[in-house]
Amino acid sequence: MMDVRDYRRALGAFPTGVTIIATYDADGAPWGLTANSFTSVSLQPPVISVCVAKSGRVFPALSQCDHFAVNILSADQKDLAMHFASDVENRFTDTEWTAGTATPLIPGASAQLECTVHSRVDADDHEILLGRVVNYTHVPIPPLVYCRGAFFSAPQPEASP
Ligand SMILES: Cc1cc2nc3c(=O)[nH]c(=O)nc-3n(C[C@H](O)[C@H](O)[C@H](O)COP(=O)(O)O)c2cc1C
Repeated sequence: MMDVRDYRRALGAFPTGVTIIATYDADGAPWGLTANSFTSVSLQPPVISVCVAKSGRVFPALSQCDHFAVNILSADQKDLAMHFASDVENRFTDTEWTAGTATPLIPGASAQLECTVHSRVDADDHEILLGRVVNYTHVPIPPLVYCRGAFFSAPQPEASP
């Protein structure tokens, strides 16, 4: 039998960025959670994925939504990353946010991707949510990095050629 805590330590050896996945429920209330399972899947057309735990409180909204946003957090948004992974009842109440075209957006993020739902794939205790990117923004500020349970600041990106 696999030792789950030890397995999580093995996964922690893979550094990632940190996102807040956000959407509205059927009543128009914003919901969001911290997620590092984000990845780019396809460039043309632009498709991304994120894995969401079925046991989470945000899952009902994400399993029914048409649109969701990926807010890629900047290095100084560590507190937000922890807030959106906490037990707080309504995470948006004390959070500065703006209404995107059809999704809640977090100001100060390194990048924001607004997506329509491309498809959903069942994956045991998680669901893989695939999104077609319909709008995006990004700014050249260092992103937040997560590795072995700790948050770091990524180096300032160099200008693209
Ligand atoms: C750095 C970090 C990354 C996380 N990545 C994910 C993830 O990719 N998918 C997920 O379902 N939960 C992830 N979590 C856990 C959720 O943020 C956390 O369980 C949250 O409380 C779930 O909220 P909910 O119960 O309100 O849905 C992550 C937590 C942290 C701190």
